[in-house]
Amino acid sequence: MSKEQLVNYLNETVKPDEGIIPAYLLGDKAVYELEHEKVFLKTWVFLGHESEIPNPGDFMTRELAGYSIIISRESMGEINAFYNMCTHRGMKLCRADKGNKTLFTCPYHGFNFKNTGELVGVPLQKDIYGERLDRTKMGLHKVKLESYKGLLFGNWDENAEPLEEFLGDFKWYLDIVVGRAEMEVIGAPQRFIVKSNWKVGSDNFVGDSYHTMVTHGSIAKLGMVPNATYSKRGFQIHTENGHGLNLGTPNPDFAFPEELKDEYKSNLSEEQYEVLSNLKNMIGNAFPNMSFLISHTKIKGELISNTSIRMWRPLSHNKMEVIAWLLVEKNASQEWKNRSRDSFILTFSPSGIFEQDDTEVFTDITEAAQGPMPFQKNLTYNYTMGLHRKPVDFIGPGVAYDDKFTEASQRNFYQYWLELMTK
Ligand SMILES: [Fe+2]
Repeated sequence: MSKEQLVNYLNETVKPDEGIIPAYLLGDKAVYELEHEKVFLKTWVFLGHESEIPNPGDFMTRELAGYSIIISRESMGEINAFYNMCTHRGMKLCRADKGNKTLFTCPYHGFNFKNTGELVGVPLQKDIYGERLDRTKMGLHKVKLESYKGLLFGNWDENAEPLEEFLGDFKWYLDIVVGRAEMEVIGAPQRFIVKSNWKVGSDNFVGDSYHTMVTHGSIAKLGMVPNATYSKRGFQIHTENGHGLNLGTPNPDFAFPEELKDEYKSNLSEEQYEVLSNLKNMIGNAFPNMSFLISHTKIKGELISNTSIRMWRPLSHNKMEVIAWLLVEKNASQEWKNRSRDSFILTFSPSGIFEQDDTEVFTDITEAAQGPMPFQKNLTYNYTMGLHRKPVDFIGPGVAYDDKFTEASQRNFYQYWLELMTK
């Protein structure tokens, strides 16, 4: 199938508004390649959190749509991103995950670049180039980087709309996740590889609370959650550009550090604070592949929340790397931070109960979607849940439904995905 034929085929077969999503979207190589070009090279992709590089000279290397970049904090505190490629002969300039450096030296010929991107040193320059080499024209290629409340995003498209416009109304909810207080990461992110198409992760986090009572049924049996249908109560909300979330309410107990209530109130609007103070859990996805989660668990008899951000980084049509950051309130006590970390590790993380349940499912779904058979048999998934329902009024922006068992968020995700893929 040519690229044009694939685009036409997508237009004919992907029908989010009718709740019809074909299986080949999760297992086909050509779809994956087109996604790289039409989605990941065109949209804002999540990279990490500013608190990972708190000091001048701190840097980390990350991948933006499969290309290595260096994200660096310069002496004045500003954060910049550069393509991790020496402008002399294309060698990867920095091969470390993170560190502190103001100068990067290319391992191939020793060209020296400042963390502002400037080429400042060329071995034996005068001797071998005479006056001909203009260092000012050989700075590192700058990558478009913007941040929202500490979340860093990159974009390869020079003409992309500003990050805040792309996030739009979804910012209201992200504020509760990462803007409610000064937040910081605990340690380096966890990284693990799952044999799954990346969209299964985004789909699961953008709106699938329905699976909780079955896939995660064992946690109800263990008494960690009140009953098997606890996952239904709350709201499902989606906004423009494919973003969406599920909000679990109400919660009789406040699962955040009590002493930070004033900080929360000063960072959030009254309506946002009301959501936070009733929050049981919050799980969502900023298109395409940055998911977040506020969950809580009883640790030593006390309800403790944990907040995490994760990225479903595509590696191929059937493989992804999950990168997960645990965030805590910077001004919480060390003891609370430790318990929040325990709560996260017990539930989500390679050793967590939820994570292990989910990744089993993600892997099997991807396996069943591969090869020519899903095309030949026109295999489709059913995304019709809640198509008959009308949205309700909610104190936050977006289109909201008054319990979480609907697939409106998933339909919204695939609608925007289709729009980009067929543009
Ligand atoms: Fe799950």
